[in-house]
Amino acid sequence: DKGGHKHFMAKEIAEQPTVIGQALSNYLDHEGKIHLPDPGVDFSKIERLTMVACGTAYFACLTAKYWFEQIARLPVDVDVASEFRYREPPIPAGTTALFVSQSGETADTLAALRYCGGKADRILSVVNVPESSIARQSDLVMPIHAGVEIGVASTKAFTCQLTVLFILALKAAQDRGEIDDESLADHLSALRGIPSVIATALEANTEMQKAALKLAEARDVLFLGRGLMYPLAHEGALKLKEISYIHAEAYASGELKHGPIALVDKNVPVVVMAPRDALFDKTVSNMQEVMARKGRVILVSDRQGLDEAGDGAFATIALPTVPDVLTPILYAIPAQLLAYHTAVAKGTDVDQPRNLAKSVTVE
Ligand code: F6R
Repeated sequence: DKGGHKHFMAKEIAEQPTVIGQALSNYLDHEGKIHLPDPGVDFSKIERLTMVACGTAYFACLTAKYWFEQIARLPVDVDVASEFRYREPPIPAGTTALFVSQSGETADTLAALRYCGGKADRILSVVNVPESSIARQSDLVMPIHAGVEIGVASTKAFTCQLTVLFILALKAAQDRGEIDDESLADHLSALRGIPSVIATALEANTEMQKAALKLAEARDVLFLGRGLMYPLAHEGALKLKEISYIHAEAYASGELKHGPIALVDKNVPVVVMAPRDALFDKTVSNMQEVMARKGRVILVSDRQGLDEAGDGAFATIALPTVPDVLTPILYAIPAQLLAYHTAVAKGTDVDQPRNLAKSVTVE
């Protein structure tokens, strides 16, 4: 049942305020305390976190690395499961391994988990399917409570993964004495506001639909972002490739002049994810380099960001303002909807894109 939507993907995108709310109520109590499922985990005893996943779940891990490192001062490695498992990396004492998977059945992620068995101090997983193989073989399972995801392109699972990983990073910061009560309370109250902020972002649908018409004509699209927006740029590029079959690449904005700027001309739309955060001015100067080469910029920012830097952009998408740390959850919405509307404009099979399966149980 698509609940009145044209595609499961559209329904699942629209469900995000509700399912993120569900994830929050499962991890936060009324007094704003964080509760993990049993047996819990004490991050004060962890020296290093190794995170492993595939595809979209991998981009959730890359995002979480910024959170764990910046908020909890915990060193984090992130790897794609198919590289990790065959590289057979050393797992030093004090390492906890964390696997993120919507299905909990991805063959490479499961193999990477098995490799860590007996080597890592503990195995954690963040999954959507609590009965899955990955969940069954973990010491601590954190369900994301996203509900069944049918669209092959992952949407609500991604934002719920981010939500749970953010809570976990806050728990780590608390356990490690890296955050005071006041900042913790501020983060949690901003997080509790995320469902309604996302509901507002979903209202920018028409702007995204308009920008998507430009993307639909393109052969190649670049996505740029810095800091927390860098993994998100990857997620935006992956979504676009998967369902619209347009070649898309993501780069850290600062890498632009180290090569990819050679690709920019008037035929290459460049999606710039730039909330008005601490790195905004840097990203804007990269964006101006794109514009100087006639690249068609689609700028995604908040009102203030668009007022300051929106001139000369081919299209702009306005999102609400949230604290810097929470921008990945919010900016996932345009990453998803730009891809969705582009695919609809091209007439592709949105829910079952060619060559892809929902659950990759073979390597
Ligand atoms: C992207 C997508 C895939 C999955 C990847 C991992 O939209 O759906 O990239 O994210 O195959 O799948 P799970 O999370 O089930 O391990």
